[in-house]
Amino acid sequence: MSELNIVNLSKRFDNTAVFENINLSVREKEFLVLLGPSGCGKSTLLNIIAGLESPTSGRIEIDGKDVIGLEPKDRGLSMVFQSYALYPTMTVRGNMSFGLQVAGLKRSEIERKVEKAATMLHLTELLDRKPSQLSGGQRQRAAIGRALVRDVSLFLFDEPLSNLDAKLRSQMRGEIRRLHDTLGVTSIYVTHDQVEAMTMASSIVVLKGGVIQQHAEPQTLYDEPENLFVAGFIGASPMNILKGRIAIEAGRPVAACTGFQVDLSRYRFKAPPVAGQEIALGVRPENVCFGEAGGTSNTGVMARIDYVEPLGADTLVWTKVGDEAMSLRVDPREARLDRQTVPLHFDLDRLSVFSRETERRL
Ligand SMILES: Nc1ncnc2c1ncn2[C@@H]1O[C@H](COP(=O)(O)OP(=O)(O)O)[C@@H](O)[C@H]1O
Ligand SMILES: [Mg+2]
Repeated sequence: MSELNIVNLSKRFDNTAVFENINLSVREKEFLVLLGPSGCGKSTLLNIIAGLESPTSGRIEIDGKDVIGLEPKDRGLSMVFQSYALYPTMTVRGNMSFGLQVAGLKRSEIERKVEKAATMLHLTELLDRKPSQLSGGQRQRAAIGRALVRDVSLFLFDEPLSNLDAKLRSQMRGEIRRLHDTLGVTSIYVTHDQVEAMTMASSIVVLKGGVIQQHAEPQTLYDEPENLFVAGFIGASPMNILKGRIAIEAGRPVAACTGFQVDLSRYRFKAPPVAGQEIALGVRPENVCFGEAGGTSNTGVMARIDYVEPLGADTLVWTKVGDEAMSLRVDPREARLDRQTVPLHFDLDRLSVFSRETERRL
C-alpha cells in the first residue's frame, strides 16, 4: 500500500514536449485510471513512474520518498504491459518465478507465492505451459500473475486489455478490479477506453496532449465534465452540444438557442451568468425525452428524426435540431419513427453549460 505524488513533472523527447509540469497525487489503495487518446503521453508517464524512462525535470515520490534515480526494481512496484512481455521460452511458472529467483527468494517461498497467485487468477492448470500454448486472455492473466507474485506497494498497468476481444475484456475488467479490492494495492491503470475507465476507476485523470483536463471520480466526470473535451470523451455516445447564448429573462438565466430557449435557473453556475455570453449547451442522450415538458421549462425544441440505432437494451434515436445533431437514448418501445418532427424536452437538472470561448464549464 502506497501513496504516490507526481510533482512538476516534465518530459521532452528532443524538442517535443510530451508534458510540462504535471502534478498528480494518487492516494493509498486507490485504483487511479489515466485516460486519454493515443499519443497523449500515458505510457511515457507510466514508464517514468516505473523508472524505465527518466523525466526532464520534476519529482516522483512514493510514500514521501523521491524515487527518481532509483532502479525500477528498487521502486517497490510492478508493471503489466500491453504486449504482455512474457519470456517465450519459459513456462507460466517460470515467468512468474523468475523475478523472485533473481531477488534471491527461497524456493519454497517462490512456490508458495506462485501457487497463491495462480489460484487467484485461475492459472493453476496452465502453470507448465509456455506462452505460445496460451490464448490471449490466458497470456494476459500470466502477465498479471507475474506482477502479482512480487510484494509490491504499487501496480502499474499499461492498456493490459487492449489485445483482447470485447467479451474477455469485460470479464478481465471485473477480475482486475476484484483483485484490487482483495489486495488493496495502490494501482495506476492506463487506457484509452472510457468504458474501462468508468467501470474500474476509483478516480480518473483525463489527459489530452500531455495536459490534465480533469481529475475526478467517474460519476463526477460524467455528470459535470470540466470542459468540452471531457464532455465528448466520456460517455458511450457523446454528450449532445447545442450552440446558444446566455439571456436573462425576467431575472432568470436561459440558454437562447436557434428557435428555442432552455431554462437555466436550476443550473449551478460557478460565477453569475452574463447576458450575451456565447455558450455550448451540453445534454446527455439519456437526459432528452420526446414530448413537451410541463410548465415553463424548455419552450419549443423541435427535432427531425434522422436515423435510429437499436442497441437492444435501449435505442439511440438521432435527430436534428436546426442543423445540429441531437441523440436520445430511449426505451426501444418508445423509439418513435412515425413522425418526422417531434418536440423534445431536457432534464433541466442534468445540463452542462460551457463557454464557447474557453471551452470550460461555466
Ligand atoms: N522514445 C521516444 N522518442 C520520441 N518521442 C516519443 C518517444 N516515446 C514517445 N514519444 C512521443 O511522445 C508522445 C506520447 O507518447 P505515449 O506516451 O506513448 O502516448 P500514449 O501512451 O498516450 O499513446 C507521442 O507523441 C510519442 O510519439
Ligand atoms: Mg501507450
